[in-house]
Amino acid sequence: MEIYYFTGTGNSLYIAKKIKENFIKCSLIPIETLLHLEKITPKSKEVGFVFPVYFGDISEFIKRIIKKFDFSNVEYIFVIPNCYSIAGATFINLRKILKAQNKNINYENILFMPDNAILFPIEKDYEKLKQVEKDIILVIEDIKKKTNKRLSTNYFQILQYYFMKLFSNWEFSPKKFIVNNSCISCGICKQVCPTKNIEIKDGKPIFNSNCIHCLACFHWCPKEAISMRNFTIKNRRKYHNS
Ligand SMILES: Cc1cc2nc3c(=O)[nH]c(=O)nc-3n(C[C@H](O)[C@H](O)[C@H](O)COP(=O)(O)O)c2cc1C
Repeated sequence: MEIYYFTGTGNSLYIAKKIKENFIKCSLIPIETLLHLEKITPKSKEVGFVFPVYFGDISEFIKRIIKKFDFSNVEYIFVIPNCYSIAGATFINLRKILKAQNKNINYENILFMPDNAILFPIEKDYEKLKQVEKDIILVIEDIKKKTNKRLSTNYFQILQYYFMKLFSNWEFSPKKFIVNNSCISCGICKQVCPTKNIEIKDGKPIFNSNCIHCLACFHWCPKEAISMRNFTIKNRRKYHNS
């Protein structure tokens, strides 16, 4: 089995690792490492995707990579996005991408995790992490049995997706990052950035234009020196999955 994952603050990596633990032969592949490839051909007949929901959708960055997959030898595809509560049009949009490649998702499920970004006022980190420990067992059982499952999407979720799409572009832009004087030039922000979008210039991070707003830099900064000039993030609590 191959699991392609993307993570900013570790929730998706936690899920991917939990699944891996339950299969004898399973590789975890950070999806961003495949960006440079023209075509991606999985070596296994069972393939999974684990990633965070961004603005009620699958990130454009991940979509771009999944479009390069050649699924012709793949027999079972499972997709486990995770988010705080709103999956929006994630499954609808991902199904469309696979449909264009003459494939269907065999198994869809979603896990609810601590929020690392948006409007939710109470993060409930502890409760969410406790609950996911139980929920993931069921997901693993399903995957072991190669269960087929399709989640339904209601009109309200689609509305949430359009609403979030409207505000995402102006709310999350690399221009909105601020670095204060607590920065010790450690370079951790540069190291954790999955798109290699950060350079250190004169001892301070510079944010280039390939930011996919995963917020890894913001959450992992050991000095909490990074904040955002925006409505939702500003200087909220720092989180990463242990
Ligand atoms: C830019 C951004 C947008 C997000 N949008 C949503 C969303 O639409 N719905 C939701 O429930 N959670 C949303 N989240 C929360 C993440 O999906 C959630 O915290 C996820 O578990 C983070 O995964 P990671 O730790 O692997 O990066 C968003 C997070 C970010 C950074």
